[in-house]
Amino acid sequence: MKVLTVFGTRPEAIKMAPIVKELKTRPTMEVVVAVTGQHREMLDQVLKIFEIVPDYDLNIFKHGQTLTDITIGALKGLEPILEKEKPDILLIQGDTTTVFSGSLAAFYHQIPIGHVEAGLRSGNLYSPYPEEANRKLTGILTKYHFAPTKRNKEHLLREDYPEEDIYITGNTVIDALKYTVQENYEFEDKILNTLDYKNKKIILLTSHRRENLGDPMDRIFSVVRTIVEEYPEVEVVFPRHLNPKVREISDRHLKDHPRIHLIEPLDYLPFTNLMAKSYFVITDSGGIQEEAPSLGKPVLVVREETERPEGVEAGTAKLIGTQSEPLYKACKELLEDFEEYKKMAHAINPYGDGEAAKKIVDILEQSEKL
Ligand code: UD1
Ligand code: UDP
Repeated sequence: MKVLTVFGTRPEAIKMAPIVKELKTRPTMEVVVAVTGQHREMLDQVLKIFEIVPDYDLNIFKHGQTLTDITIGALKGLEPILEKEKPDILLIQGDTTTVFSGSLAAFYHQIPIGHVEAGLRSGNLYSPYPEEANRKLTGILTKYHFAPTKRNKEHLLREDYPEEDIYITGNTVIDALKYTVQENYEFEDKILNTLDYKNKKIILLTSHRRENLGDPMDRIFSVVRTIVEEYPEVEVVFPRHLNPKVREISDRHLKDHPRIHLIEPLDYLPFTNLMAKSYFVITDSGGIQEEAPSLGKPVLVVREETERPEGVEAGTAKLIGTQSEPLYKACKELLEDFEEYKKMAHAINPYGDGEAAKKIVDILEQSEKL
């Protein structure tokens, strides 16, 4: 069976890497990797860590790219690859614009699609934007829905997808995470190596969502600054997404403070090890919401909705929204109320057992539907 996998951004690469590795161990399977290059540096970082050399690289990235640019670039670029490779199945992961364009391209060639991380829903088409729409549009074109959790499967059933096409597999992000966190991890970055993880409270911050760019991000960063100023034991590390808008807003609020470290995006290994050593996490990222519970780190989710309520139900994540007061109060509580902190800081794994890639490849290998 020939599997063509298409991905383009950092999180897709992290979550598809365990599947590519697993496919390569199976003599019955052939895997062809095409990257759109929707991200450039941030994608290349992941390819390097997981030692994946793409067979095709569309290199569509350009600064200030619009959703239309990405869609057209990926759609056009994939056409000759699909025609040449004639894969038995296209495998895509997640909800980015690469994912939607990849599935549309495959659909135009009547190639069956396997959607990894299927069935996540926030219920609001504009949040996360455009990801909620990308997931739904991809779902319509998909034959194999690989749902991480029971809830994700229920969403798909509610939308009338046939039960026999839906498989609960766990999330491959947990497969990837299994191999990364080490007790005595040494960072290459000098600042990260000298931080006092025992006596200080290190807050790991990330933010990049399109719907947060502007006032919401202004409010989030402003609260973070206030917290750092009020609590001398707090240090903040913010590996900043390369989006210039994120940089501009964070420069305005967070620059030039000795206990706020604005650093470049980290490679996956140092990033997950930093998360494992931090006190708690503030984020609007999807993947980080899945990783933090597994590492027993409290997460304050700075979004209005989440398609990952499992972490909230498990008690490690809190959906805070993007208003100042709730974020300020939640930070204060985690810093001052150790009982409350302990309630959140327990390792639990609602997103799978680290065997998702194996399950997905088993299903494909045994499938008679292709
Ligand atoms: C994309 C996905 C989002 C995902 C995120 C992961 C879409 C619409 N959005 O959002 O779902 O959560 O990736 O990080 O698919 N940039 C660089 N170098 C890079 C990557 C980005 O300079 O390697 C800068 C560029 O200026 C680019 C901007 O970041 O224009 C935004 O990148 P883009 O891929 O359009 O959206 P993300 O916000 O990264
Ligand atoms: N990540 C990373 N380096 C960083 C920040 C995040 O390797 O500096 C990893 C993180 O561990 C997670 C993924 O990137 O697996 C999340 O990506 P992102 O937040 O960009 O996208 P989302 O998950 O929100 O789509």
